[in-house]
Amino acid sequence: MFIVFEGIDGSGKTTISKMLANHLGYFWTAEPTDGEIGKFIREILTKNKNIDSKAITLLFTADRYEHQKIIKENIKKGVICDRYFFSTLAYQSVLGVEDEFIKYINKDIIMPDVVFLLVVDVDEAIKRLKTSDLFEKKSFLEKVQKKYLELAKEYNFIVIDTSNKSIDNVFNEILKRLEL
Ligand code: TYD
Repeated sequence: MFIVFEGIDGSGKTTISKMLANHLGYFWTAEPTDGEIGKFIREILTKNKNIDSKAITLLFTADRYEHQKIIKENIKKGVICDRYFFSTLAYQSVLGVEDEFIKYINKDIIMPDVVFLLVVDVDEAIKRLKTSDLFEKKSFLEKVQKKYLELAKEYNFIVIDTSNKSIDNVFNEILKRLEL
């Protein structure tokens, strides 16, 4: 079983995805990864460097191909991944990269069995964030969340609204949805 968590920065997906991995005894992983390419991406992001949006799309995707081996190795145990292909579709498309380009370069990746999209009031998400980098501005996050909701229809995500809800509340809702 391969489960992916998606959502804007501050949606709570890291906390929730780790809780679920603990609960199910699954392997937890995230993108950008802590591998060489992932580290390089984080460095670019923290320095707020202005990189061409297609170039950064290729980097996120390169990191994802590197990640495939780790996912495959743990798939029997069960894998929970905090951000995946849909992060590239949501974030990089808002930066002007076409969906077709993103889909094409990602065509050989393993697709997850279930995708949870955590949606949240954008003001609430911003309050939860301690830093404010390139990808954490209000108007930007609003656009990303709108794109995520479009993708939810296309890819059949399980959408969970976390606004005004406690972590335990959200977690229980996720457990219920998984039993269906
Ligand atoms: P994030 O998981 O939020 O990192 P952290 O744990 O440090 O908060 O990911 C970092 C940023 O990268 C986040 O703003 C979303 C962005 N991102 C993309 O734009 N495209 C992608 O394909 C991925 C995986 C992440």
